Amino acid sequence: MNYLAPSVLAADFSTLGNDIAVAAAAGARMIHLDVMDGIFVPNISFGAPVIASVRKVTGVLFDVHLMIHEPIRYVEDFKKAGADMITVHYEACEEVKDTLLAIRSMGVKAGIAISPDTPVCVLIPYLDCVDMVLVMSVYPGFGGQSFIEDSILKIRDVKSMAKEHNRQDLWIEVDGGIDRSNIEKVKEAGANVMVAGSAVFRGNIMQNVKELKDLL
Ligand code: DX5
Ligand code: ZN
Repeated sequence: MNYLAPSVLAADFSTLGNDIAVAAAAGARMIHLDVMDGIFVPNISFGAPVIASVRKVTGVLFDVHLMIHEPIRYVEDFKKAGADMITVHYEACEEVKDTLLAIRSMGVKAGIAISPDTPVCVLIPYLDCVDMVLVMSVYPGFGGQSFIEDSILKIRDVKSMAKEHNRQDLWIEVDGGIDRSNIEKVKEAGANVMVAGSAVFRGNIMQNVKELKDLL
């Protein structure tokens, strides 16, 4: 199944709950929530209390992308706030496996993200303890950046690696610079979860979600 995951980083935070409800009503079955700590990435966004608040407005899947240093310290808070999936960065964890297992032990799906300069091969030791791989198609930290074309090759590599390791069920998410011009290309490369911030929340949210979903 393919998912469009609107990233609220590009939303107007004064109407966040409403904007999420509109995206869900338009057919988005997943919402992507970018948590940034100002240490792992040079930007600060929001934390668990904001996620707990907007959890009240919709039942769609909450896909929480933790761009924070040593996320193992906070995974329980994000589960309590209502996360259905928690993705951590390979580059941000001292003990990657322990972090992924801590997420799964709470009954939450675990994802591992790699930044643009991190090669796909680092994922191999973790393939048996993740539900999703997130290929970053921009440098993490900010919305509104341009899609890095090399990400297409990385998505293809993750797809074939998953097959080689008998993990055809693995979800592949792509995040950063996704819009109408490239969403089909990332789908064809093998991704099934497409994150889009600016392309959803800038302009008419309802129309944007419908148009992007039609391309999936
Ligand atoms: C970047 C975030 C992305 C970002 C996507 O660090 O992880 O989720 O919000 O925004 P756009 O779609 O505008 O690139
Ligand atoms: Zn993200």
